Amino acid sequence: MSSQIIPVEPFDYVVFGGTGDLAERKLLPALYHRQLAGQLSDPTRIIGASRTALTDAEYRKFAVDALKEHLKPGEFDDAQIKTFCDRLFYIAVDAKSDLGWDKLKDLLDEGKDRVRAFYLAVAPGIFGDISEKIRDHKLITKHTRIVVEKPIGRDLASANELNNTIGKVFREEQIFRIDHYLGKETVQNLMALRFANALYEPLWNSAHIDHVQISVAESVGLESRAGYYDKAGALRDMVQNHILQLLCLVAMEVPSSMDAEAVRDEKLKVLRALKPIDQYNVERLTVRGQYRAGASAGGPVKGYLEELEGGVSNTETFVGIKAEIGNWRWAGVPFYIRTGKRLAARMSEIVITFKPIPHSIFDPSAGRIEANQLIIRLQPDEGVKQSLMIKDPGPGGMRLRNVSLDMSFAEAFDARNADAYERLLLDVVRNNQTLFMRRDEVEAAWHWVDPILKAWEATGQQVQGYTAGTWGPSQAIALIERDGRTWHET
Ligand code: BG6
Repeated sequence: MSSQIIPVEPFDYVVFGGTGDLAERKLLPALYHRQLAGQLSDPTRIIGASRTALTDAEYRKFAVDALKEHLKPGEFDDAQIKTFCDRLFYIAVDAKSDLGWDKLKDLLDEGKDRVRAFYLAVAPGIFGDISEKIRDHKLITKHTRIVVEKPIGRDLASANELNNTIGKVFREEQIFRIDHYLGKETVQNLMALRFANALYEPLWNSAHIDHVQISVAESVGLESRAGYYDKAGALRDMVQNHILQLLCLVAMEVPSSMDAEAVRDEKLKVLRALKPIDQYNVERLTVRGQYRAGASAGGPVKGYLEELEGGVSNTETFVGIKAEIGNWRWAGVPFYIRTGKRLAARMSEIVITFKPIPHSIFDPSAGRIEANQLIIRLQPDEGVKQSLMIKDPGPGGMRLRNVSLDMSFAEAFDARNADAYERLLLDVVRNNQTLFMRRDEVEAAWHWVDPILKAWEATGQQVQGYTAGTWGPSQAIALIERDGRTWHET
């Protein structure tokens, strides 16, 4: 089975930070892939913008180099690259002065009626300056949208301030806040699984579900992001956004439709129902970890402190949390969350463990009857597994076995697995906000995360060391095992 491609109307994407890391690694390859798929219509343009002085030709070379580096063998097609390059333009602009803005206006005015999207792939500190320049130079048309990336603040107050700054220039419906996890294929599949099947929804509550696990494990370490990461830590970097979004999709009520407001209203209710974690329960409900020297697939790796220039830090590279949602559907069902860098593997999954059967009719010799689990694998090897107890085949006595109905998407479909940005970039053009975060959602997430940060500070909760290449500190295992449960083994 392959997917169906519907071209989108022509657009102008202006990428501020057009020569930066995100543009190079994600945005340009994603737009190229959409062209390969036949989804871009003429005269779509992609306009790189940043302070560096470059000609269009130099920007095209930058893009070709980026594509060579980030495409898979066979995806680099000379004719397609030429068409893609013809769409690329570059304007040097300065967020703090008027340099380049008139030129940008002249270029954009060639396509006044087209969808116009401004992507701020820059530090949040200049979101305000750029927004004001866009307004002052009259670049906003009826079809204008603005796209912003995390981090949206480092706490509730700074998130509020940032949202206010952008909100002075753009209306909420023009603002697309990206959380790239929402663009991942399996994350959307979670909605299909829950709402396009009659099977699960009646069981999707505390009467039938024992607990939920959300694991987002990375094998990489700091990479070259020490400056940002050491100030952020895993709670801000992964939990406030990606993991809480996953939790919302698992826990939300059935929205009345896939309409953006309907879906986001339901996610918001979940965020608001999260039980507070504060200085009185933080040590029981959270674990902070930091990797020490160890090994990854590529061989020995340094510890976090050795990677930092300063060498002293209490920033967590791992966080484990036992969260609870205070509403009728989920009362008493723990949501165990863990995420970390330099773990044993790159693996993200959501595991729904159902309650055990109430009574066994089988003789103990049939073996242990394990609770059913639904495992949604986000990456790698995207897919869904449903574990079931069956009879071990054969003429002997009744022996029970736990087996999985295992659907790997790569095997079931011949479509390539598109990167999250491919969908999200074009959803902006399609004006579909369903997979983007609304302001109140971002703020509600901070509203839950802020007290955890404060509680860590108030209690002086230290990071626990874990060896790089393992599954995190032993306290994270204790977090779940003291409730008589275990992390799902991949
Ligand atoms: C980013 C975080 O938002 O997500 C990174 O800032 C993290 O620290 C990345 O590595 C993980 O994304 P993915 O798609 O590789 O799971």
